[in-house]
Amino acid sequence: MAKLHLITYGCQMNEYDSERVAGLLRERQYELTDDETAADVILVNTCAIREKAEDKVFSKLGELKRLKAQRPGLVIGVMGCMAQLHQETIVRRAPQVDLVFGSPAIARVGELVERVQREGRTLVETREAPLVKITAKPASADRLKAFVTVMEGCEKHCTFCVVPRTRGRERSHPPEAIVAEVEQLVAGGCREVTLLGQTVNAYGRDLTPPTDLAELFARVNDVAGLSRIRFTTSNPYNLTPKLIAAMRDVPKVCEWFHLPLQSGSDRILERMNRGYTRAQYLDLIAALRDAEPALALSTDIIVGFPGETEADFAETVNMIERVGYDNVFVFRYSRRPGTPAAAMSDQVADEAKADRNRRLLEVVERVTGQRSARLAGRTMEVLVDGLSRRNPGELAGRTRCNRVVNFDGRGQVAVGDTVHVRVTDALPHSLRGTLATPEEAVCWSK
Ligand code: 5AD
Repeated sequence: MAKLHLITYGCQMNEYDSERVAGLLRERQYELTDDETAADVILVNTCAIREKAEDKVFSKLGELKRLKAQRPGLVIGVMGCMAQLHQETIVRRAPQVDLVFGSPAIARVGELVERVQREGRTLVETREAPLVKITAKPASADRLKAFVTVMEGCEKHCTFCVVPRTRGRERSHPPEAIVAEVEQLVAGGCREVTLLGQTVNAYGRDLTPPTDLAELFARVNDVAGLSRIRFTTSNPYNLTPKLIAAMRDVPKVCEWFHLPLQSGSDRILERMNRGYTRAQYLDLIAALRDAEPALALSTDIIVGFPGETEADFAETVNMIERVGYDNVFVFRYSRRPGTPAAAMSDQVADEAKADRNRRLLEVVERVTGQRSARLAGRTMEVLVDGLSRRNPGELAGRTRCNRVVNFDGRGQVAVGDTVHVRVTDALPHSLRGTLATPEEAVCWSK
């Protein structure tokens, strides 16, 4: 068998896409290898969301150039968002690259690799194509938790973001195809799925007949053998009362929700074209907590967006404290080619971005630590993942609210079991606990 080495940068959808590519090439007699020096084909799945992500790819391509010098037959491909965004420019900057293809061409990866090998010339394939559901996967993809792409693309046009140019318009997969994929995953041992989309809560609007994420939850919930449903990432703009009710009512949907805020300042939100104010965002949080008091919330924040002043930044700090997030991802604003914000004249200096990033992380540490501390003494449902990373004598799993829990349960429970654990220590980044007695477990409710 020929050997394929895959290098994946970026988001969960990239991980998902890489597995589809591995599955499709497996059908063409390629097996995966971890050793890049042994590969016949190396594919780099890329991210374009920030400049740093792109720098990593070009530095990796520099390393691969040396490998190619030793092995002229090696095929090097660049796929994903950078491929779609930069197209021929990638080959100009990195002539060792033989193949460039965007996400619409993933379904044709086998044919593209074969053409490069046959014709011996560089191929750039970044045309639009209809969305197709690919369920091919490598044997290694059978696992407890899996991603399932349900829609792709984004039409929100936030002024900082390159995604509308890399993933295209919002296009959804039909619910039947998604349910079939989840059933196949469950048959392979999967117990938890994360439904993926760049604006996952806009799911289904483009289908005929139209549907929505709430209806999809109900259908996926019916898959026997599945324990948990998560979904990411959502946009406050499409967060409807119907979806909030479904998060409360559909039993397998976990009490964990990622809702990017980006900034706490109305002035910056407007310049970002986010389509909501901080008051509207707070109303959504109130409605969510009203429906599901145990909900864990996480968010994304950009610091140093053009024109952001210290007063704007203070509003962001205030929102983090007010909402009380369980997890916050902080990013320094990065100028992306072709986006409106890149052309704004009042760019923030790198030192100010770095300073706000550092200060915000301190706030995040305090706020998320307080949220974690609240869980001490509670008995929580845990899906057992494997051995604890810190102490292989213990087991590890995650709560429905997505916290890592380490506990001593060897000999009593197995990986894939759902158990109840009483939290004895709530550390900032993980919980420790002991297996709950049956009485404690009975007290527990969703
Ligand atoms: N600069 C910095 N962060 C960005 N994000 C998206 N575009 C940019 C950018 N140009 C962040 C947003 C988004 C997350 C996936 O990446 O916070 O929610």
